[in-house]
This record gives sequence, structure tokens and C-alpha cells, in this order.
Amino acid sequence: MTPQAMTHQGWKLVLFGPPGAGKGTQAQLLKEHLQVAHVSSGDLFRHHLSNGTELGELARGYMNQGILVPDDVTIGMVLDRIGPMSPDEGFLLDGFPRNVKQAQALNDALAESDRRIDRVIHIKVADAELIRRLSNRYICRVCQKPFAGDAATGAVPARCDDCPDGGDIYQRADDTAAAVANRIAVYHQETAPVLDFYQAHGLLSDIAGEGPVESVNQAALASLQPNLAKAFRPAAF
Ligand code: AP5
Ligand code: MG
Ligand code: ZN
Repeated sequence: MTPQAMTHQGWKLVLFGPPGAGKGTQAQLLKEHLQVAHVSSGDLFRHHLSNGTELGELARGYMNQGILVPDDVTIGMVLDRIGPMSPDEGFLLDGFPRNVKQAQALNDALAESDRRIDRVIHIKVADAELIRRLSNRYICRVCQKPFAGDAATGAVPARCDDCPDGGDIYQRADDTAAAVANRIAVYHQETAPVLDFYQAHGLLSDIAGEGPVESVNQAALASLQPNLAKAFRPAAF
């Protein structure tokens, strides 16, 4: 771990943005650098789905339509994941909170153990670019890392390069045109108001999400601490 990473140990962050903004892509880079746990509500639901649990079966219908899974299910699932963490353990939330009720429930639960969110990074991307990205997005069945088809040929990697046995790559059931349109509409109606909630708490950093992955990553790091971005270059770039 670098000394710069150590200064961010224990940070509790929210990675916020519309479907296809690059939350999962940036989380893969940030979790390594900041030494924090990546907690994605969508990944948790898909894990339940692939294990055939009751919660997964309940979530499936909502997810495939591109609408939010009810709060009573979602809030409990995420709080069960971060509740048992020690107060000095850092995490990066991705896809949660997604409405003001979830944001308030998160604040209340953290306050009970003297914890709080340190920063919310909002990745801004225009709707047309979201639609373009999601029609060309594939994920690993094992670790859920996202991939894009090659811009020129459309070719997709056969296996995940992050999983020891090369996880199978597939297209999500909610990346159909109809579900993507719903997800973007739900984002604007139900999720975007969470930005005002965090702005009022002085926690919000807006970053441009339309440049190359590396530039977005630099902007995310810079939003945490001005010197951190210069100190870090991801090995993949
Ligand atoms: P979830 O899994 O959270 O999906 P989402 O928010 O719709 O976001 P995505 O995962 O589609 O996009 P992303 O921002 O992670 O982008 P990615 O990095 O993959 O939620 C799914 C469903 O679960 C919801 O619809 C809901 O039903 C349910 N759910 C989840 N959380 C919930 C909650 N809190 N409450 C209720 N229901 C909930 O990138 C996308 C593509 O773009 C990839 O191909 C990537 O390679 C590419 N890309 C990334 N960055 C760049 C870049 N800078 N330039 C070009 N391409 C890029
Ligand atoms: Mg994602
Ligand atoms: Zn993988």
C-alpha cells in the first residue's frame, strides 16, 4: 500500500451517478488504491439472483424492468453488509443510496456506530452517452467487473482477466433498450434528488464522467484530495 493510500484508510465514500456512468468501472480502480471495500447494491442483488435465493427472486422482476427494488428489502440488504464492519474500515458504496429515504436510513445507521459518509463522488454523464455505453456493456459472471465491446469491431473478451479461472462474460438482462430507458427515467425522478441531500450536508463532489476511464479516475482522486491524483497512476493505463 502506498503512503497516499494509507491517508485514506477508513474513508466511507458514495460513488453516485446514473446507470452506465462508470460507477463499477471506477470502483474497481478506487477500491485498490484506497484500500476500501466495494459495496455495490446491484452486485449484491445479482449475487442473490445467481444463488437462487428468495431475495434474488423478489428482486428479479424489479431489476429486469429497470425499476427500484423496494426500500424495505434494499436498505436491509446493504446495512447487513456494512453494519458489521469495524468503525475504521473504509467502504465505497456503488448504487446505494438511490432515493432520499435510503440516504437518510444510511446516515442514521452509520450515526449509531459513530460513523459517517466522508464524501460523495457524483459522476456526470449525458443520457445519450449512457445509452451508448449500456448497449455495449458486458460483465463477468464471477466478480461482476464491467467490460466494453471493442469500439471498432464490437469484439468482447471471452473471459474476465481479473478472475483466476477467467470468469464467463455475459450481458445483463436489464441492458435491453426498454429497461435502460426506464433506469434512466427512474434515475432522474427518484435518485437525482439525493444530490440535494448530500449537497446540503456539504459532501458532494461533481466530476465529469465522459473522458477516458483514466481521466475520470484522476478526477475522482482529485475530488478526494488535490495531491492524491498526481501520486497515483493505475497500472492498467
Ligand atoms: P446497478 O447494478 O446499480 O446498475 P446501474 O446503477 O443501473 O448502473 P450500471 O451498473 O448499469 O452502470 P455503472 O455506473 O456501474 O457503469 P459501468 O462501470 O458498468 O442496479 C441494477 C438494478 O438493481 C437497478 O435498476 C435496481 O432494480 C436494482 N437496485 C440496485 N441498487 C438499488 C437500490 N439502492 N435501490 C433499489 N434498487 C436497486 O460502465 C458502463 C459501461 O461503460 C461499461 O461497458 C464500461 O466499460 C463503460 N465505461 C465506463 N467508463 C467509461 C468511460 N469513461 N468512457 C467510456 N466507456 C466507459
Ligand atoms: Mg454498476
Ligand atoms: Zn471476473
